[in-house]
Amino acid sequence: MPRSAPAVRRSFTVFVGQPLPEPSTSELLRPYDVAFGRGCLPPEEVRTHLARADAFLPTPRERLTREVLSAAPRLRIVASCSVGTDHVDLPACRERGVVVTNTPGVLTEATADLAWTLILAVTRRLFEGEALARSGAWDGWKPLELLGTGLQGKTLGIYGLGRIGTAVARRGEAFGMRVLGVVEGDGPERFEGLLESSDVLSLHAPLTPSTRGRFGRAELFRMKRGAVLVNTARGPIVDEAALAAALEAGHLRGAGLDVYENEPAIHPGLLGRRDVVLLPHLGSATVETRLAMARLACSEIDRFFRGEPVHHRVL
Ligand code: DGY
Repeated sequence: MPRSAPAVRRSFTVFVGQPLPEPSTSELLRPYDVAFGRGCLPPEEVRTHLARADAFLPTPRERLTREVLSAAPRLRIVASCSVGTDHVDLPACRERGVVVTNTPGVLTEATADLAWTLILAVTRRLFEGEALARSGAWDGWKPLELLGTGLQGKTLGIYGLGRIGTAVARRGEAFGMRVLGVVEGDGPERFEGLLESSDVLSLHAPLTPSTRGRFGRAELFRMKRGAVLVNTARGPIVDEAALAAALEAGHLRGAGLDVYENEPAIHPGLLGRRDVVLLPHLGSATVETRLAMARLACSEIDRFFRGEPVHHRVL
């Protein structure tokens, strides 16, 4: 038996920041008036769509600033298709009483897999090997060719031990690594221990005022010589210019990045380096995961307008 008449909910308008994997909006937002953006939330979309929306479903690419929020007087819920919510001005939403939800849980394993893809790609020099194999210049097996570094018995440092950090740590144990986890808020000694003893340091903390710029020049040069840094969390946690300098100085062996300080721009000092593997924010990019994220965000909006409690409330 239908729980409420679709005609009633039709009076609510939902703006979806960019097209999502389907079936998500087509099924779960069917009772509503739905409009789609093209991504990035350009001013004309704010004027034409967000201005009359009761609900907004952004991705990390659509930044809901205080100014944008003030152009959306009807907005009651922001259901982000992401676990990170740093693209949403939470204090501004709190002041307005706008509910904010995210999509934790469904992207844990995909993101942990991608962090490991980067760890292996950097430590085993995957892209240099791939380029050599395709080049036509490869003339056969050599004892000294493109030697990487092994992981067995080494230390895997995890900064941020939430769902994803824990899943990355679990994989590390399967690779025979000693795992050292640190959360923001642990004392400075533990953080310094993380820097000094990690052979691979993988970042999994959310972007907050206290994690922004946490890995600057001092911290990167404090890391163990020859270590590898992997970031699948949020770009601004790392100072990219300082990272390029630590690599250029030969202090770090390499880096694997899926996220960037000024995304989608990438620091020019990183672009040309062979010891860096760069991906375009693909952590959650599997068909299964992106569909689950989209469906979760849509169902939060539907629950909200049905008067049911949302499942993943950030605010
Ligand atoms: C998130 O969910 O916050 C990711 O960055 C996008 O998958």
